[in-house]
Amino acid sequence: MQKRKIFENVYWLGSVDWDRRLFDSLIPLPDGTTYNAYLVQGSQKTALLDTVDPPMTDELLAQLSDVRAIDFIVSQHAEQDHSGAIPQVLERFPEAKVVVSPKAKGMLMDLLRIPETAFVTVSDGETISLGDKTLKFLHTPWVHWPETMVTYLTEDKMLFSCDFLGSHIASSDLFVTDQGRVYEAAKRYFAEIMMPFRKVIEKNIEKLKEYDVQMIAPSHGQIYDRPAWIMDAYKDWVMGVPHNLVALPFVSMHGSTRQLVDYLASCLVEQGVRVELFNLAAADIGKLAMALVDAATIVVGVPTVLAGPHPLAAYATLLANALRPKTKFLSIVGSYGWGGKTVETLAGMIPNLNVEVLDPVLCKGVPAKNDFESLDKLAGMIAQKHKEHGFR
Ligand code: FEO
Repeated sequence: MQKRKIFENVYWLGSVDWDRRLFDSLIPLPDGTTYNAYLVQGSQKTALLDTVDPPMTDELLAQLSDVRAIDFIVSQHAEQDHSGAIPQVLERFPEAKVVVSPKAKGMLMDLLRIPETAFVTVSDGETISLGDKTLKFLHTPWVHWPETMVTYLTEDKMLFSCDFLGSHIASSDLFVTDQGRVYEAAKRYFAEIMMPFRKVIEKNIEKLKEYDVQMIAPSHGQIYDRPAWIMDAYKDWVMGVPHNLVALPFVSMHGSTRQLVDYLASCLVEQGVRVELFNLAAADIGKLAMALVDAATIVVGVPTVLAGPHPLAAYATLLANALRPKTKFLSIVGSYGWGGKTVETLAGMIPNLNVEVLDPVLCKGVPAKNDFESLDKLAGMIAQKHKEHGFR
C-alpha cells in the first residue's frame, strides 16, 4: 500500500497484514492486523514514528523512497512488530537518531542490536521540535511493555498511542468507519494484552486527561478521528465494576460435564444472571478473554483425566490467571470416573486471581439428582452474590 495523507505533513505509513492469524504465537487474530507507522514533517525536521513487523520492511522502505531525510525515528514500543524495521530504516537514513524512553534503549539494543550511539532518550514530558510541529513524549508503561510511551503532536492535537487503544483489524480504511466492529476488536485486544496491567493503565488514562486529543493514531488498526468513545470504553474495561455475567469455559469428554454446565447455565439464566459458554475443544480463546473483561464469576467445567484436570481446562485456567480479570467469584463443576485431584490442581493455578472460591460441584460418572441439587445451590449463591454487589 502507498503512504496515505492524514492531513498536511502527517502521513500514515505501514502495512495491512490481511493474512496474520496468530500474534506472539498465542493470540488469535481473526481479522488480521495492521502495523502503522507515521511520518510527521515539520518545517525544519522530519520524524518517523515506529516502523513495521520485519517481514513488511520492504513495503515501508518503498513508502519512504521519496523522503529525503529523517531526523528522528521515534520508537514508542520495543516489540518487534513496531521496531523490527528500525535497523533497515537506519541503514537508509544513517543520520537519524532513534528516540526512545530510557528503558526502551536497552531493550532495542538487546532485541535488534542497534548500536548505543544511535539513540536519544527522552524523559517523561520531554519535547522535540520539528520546527512548526512539536512532539511531546509521555511515558505510559505497560501498554503493552514496561518501556512504552505515547507521543502527542501538540499543534495538531493528535495522539500517537502505539499499542495503547489499538485494535487488530486488517482494513483499507484509514479511519474508523464501523465503530461496533472496532469496539469488539479493541476489547479483544485489551483483554489479551493489557487487562493484566489495569492499575497502571488507569494512571495512563489519568495522565492523558489534561491533553486535548482530537485524533488518536494507534499502531494497530484504524485511526480514531472521533476518539471519545474508545477512551470511554477503556475507562469501563479498566475501572468499571464487573457485570452480572458468568463465564463458563468447559470441556467434556463423554457428556457428563456438559450436562452439568448446561444445567447450571439454565439455572443462572432463570435467576437473571447472564452466561457465556465456551467449549474449549473448539473455542476462540480471544472470545473467552473478552468475556473475562466483564464477568463477575468464572465457572470452569472440567472432567478429570489421568487423575487431574483435563489439559484444555487447565490451559483456560492458566490463561485466566495470567490475564488477571476483575472477576470476583470462581467455581468448578465436573465429572470424574474414580478419583483424582482436579479441584486442588486447578485451585493451585490461580494465585493472581483475587476471587472468592465457591463450593465446587463434582459428580462421579453421570450427574445424579443430588448433583443437580448442588448446581441449584451454586446458581442461587452466584445470583445472590451478584445482587449483593450490585452487578448489572
Ligand atoms: Fe503491537 Fe506490543 O506490540
